[in-house]
Amino acid sequence: MGGPSLTTRDNVFDWDAASYDTLPLPHEEWGRRVVAQLDLEPGDRALDAGCGTGRDAALVLERHPEIHLTCLDASPSMLAAARDRLGERAAYLQATLGMPLPAVPPFDAVMSVAAFHWVPDHVALFATLAEAMRPGAQLVSDCGGAGQLRIVNAAIADVTGQEVDPWEFADATTTRSRLVRAGFEPQRVELRPDLLRLDDPALLERYLATVILGGYLRGMPSTAEQVRFVREVRLAMAEPVIDYIRLEVVARRAMRHQTRATLADAAARFGHTTGGVDLPTPRRDDVADVPTFS
Ligand SMILES: C[S@@+](CC[C@H](N)C(=O)[O-])C[C@H]1O[C@@H](n2cnc3c(N)ncnc32)[C@H](O)[C@@H]1O
Repeated sequence: MGGPSLTTRDNVFDWDAASYDTLPLPHEEWGRRVVAQLDLEPGDRALDAGCGTGRDAALVLERHPEIHLTCLDASPSMLAAARDRLGERAAYLQATLGMPLPAVPPFDAVMSVAAFHWVPDHVALFATLAEAMRPGAQLVSDCGGAGQLRIVNAAIADVTGQEVDPWEFADATTTRSRLVRAGFEPQRVELRPDLLRLDDPALLERYLATVILGGYLRGMPSTAEQVRFVREVRLAMAEPVIDYIRLEVVARRAMRHQTRATLADAAARFGHTTGGVDLPTPRRDDVADVPTFS
């Protein structure tokens, strides 16, 4: 059977930021868990990798108002929403995780919530982050982990007739070794199940459309087709449950690992970071729009 399909490249697309922020997102709790583990000093440079609409960036700035925070996302709409929320309190960077980052001063910390599983190559992801971090810098992240979305993926396969898993839901052992290979010292790498039950069919459909199925929907020519696809996936789900399993990481960039450019070179190239000033931006011009789904 034919039907909507998705390639890894399709994982980078624009999101519906307005709909996103109205949903009952477990991401809020995941974000609080990440922010609570950040070890930041006044003046530190921190990166929110896959910042979305800036909710967790706002939280980290509330707790650590004297840091220099950069919000990175590939989605123009998400980044615009983050900018609306935070204004001059942060710098903004439209970039694609997993690809080399533009020249940035070395970060003292990188945080990320619900973004890394959208990046197909975690070895490249961690290596490019390590390059942007000073030795000893902290990485605290949450993303989807091994076994996540079995219910949703089975429903998608039912509807499309294809077994495609577009996300990188890694396990803890693999992630530890990828981190080490990229020059990190893992401190905690764990999976944590966190099921989300949404009994209201309309809400479940909006959740699926906005948070889960964006990569599929963007390839569809009409809103009617998108609506039909989301409904079919919802009806094919064994139960109205988004079966989240979180992969939680706390790591430090190893002291002995060298970045390609020395830290002094990086600092000299960029000077210093300032809140509210845009860093060098887009390397990508292929971020596609997704029509608003309501
Ligand atoms: C589920 S949202 C999470 C947003 C926010 N961190 C939160 O918890 O609400 C995933 C975010 O990751 C971003 N994203 C996905 N793949 C990306 C990539 N390769 N590079 C940069 N951002 C990416 C999306 O644009 C989106 O804003």
